[in-house]
Amino acid sequence: MEQHWNHVYHTKQPTDVSWYEEYPHYSVSLIEGFNLAKTARVIDVGGGDSRLVDALLELGYLNLTVLDISEQAIKRAKARLGSRADQVQWIVSDVTRFAPSQSFDAWHDRATFHFLTTEPQVDAYLSIAEQAIPAGGFLSVATFSDQGPTKCSGLTVRQYSSDALTDQFAYRFTRLHCEEMTHPTPFGTQQLFTACQFQRKAA
Ligand SMILES: C[S@@+](CC[C@H](N)C(=O)[O-])C[C@H]1O[C@@H](n2cnc3c(N)ncnc32)[C@H](O)[C@@H]1O
Repeated sequence: MEQHWNHVYHTKQPTDVSWYEEYPHYSVSLIEGFNLAKTARVIDVGGGDSRLVDALLELGYLNLTVLDISEQAIKRAKARLGSRADQVQWIVSDVTRFAPSQSFDAWHDRATFHFLTTEPQVDAYLSIAEQAIPAGGFLSVATFSDQGPTKCSGLTVRQYSSDALTDQFAYRFTRLHCEEMTHPTPFGTQQLFTACQFQRKAA
């Protein structure tokens, strides 16, 4: 899997991939909506070379982490940010093997969770998120919707309705809000996503 993603980030320009956003308005509005202090610890899981980290730095967030399975994606994001990259913690890891050394007040995932298609992978993700997010912390996850594409970057994804996504997280998280939203790709097509935000329950 790591090889697939390194190949993608080696061979494709940012605007060659369907998930590209010039400015991640939706994700920024979700994170801003959590009303966290700027010192809050925020992680973008499967952040790739998304510009979310740039936007959050500009908004004054001080404790940002970007995790991705692809070292090449992280290299690209760092190169884009230049010296500002030093203000971010970068982690190259498969999220299902991530061993967090700190907790996170907000966990953001746009289009990564849906690549986990087996129960052990999903269970590992949920258990790591549960451990990493303390009671009251937020988790935002966006996947292809059950009406959306069946593949992303040539890989089969697991599609979710709002209820199905809620069911996955309900054991340890309270659902705050879910909606279907449309992402306009750089190719002029549209992709339907399901986006949900949750809050970690007390243990
Ligand atoms: C569709 S892209 C979305 C990237 C970014 N979230 C965005 O919105 O621009 C999916 C990202 O998830 C990463 N990824 C896929 N499987 C992963 C895994 N098991 N652990 C960590 N990252 C993963 C890929 O390298 C890629 O950067």
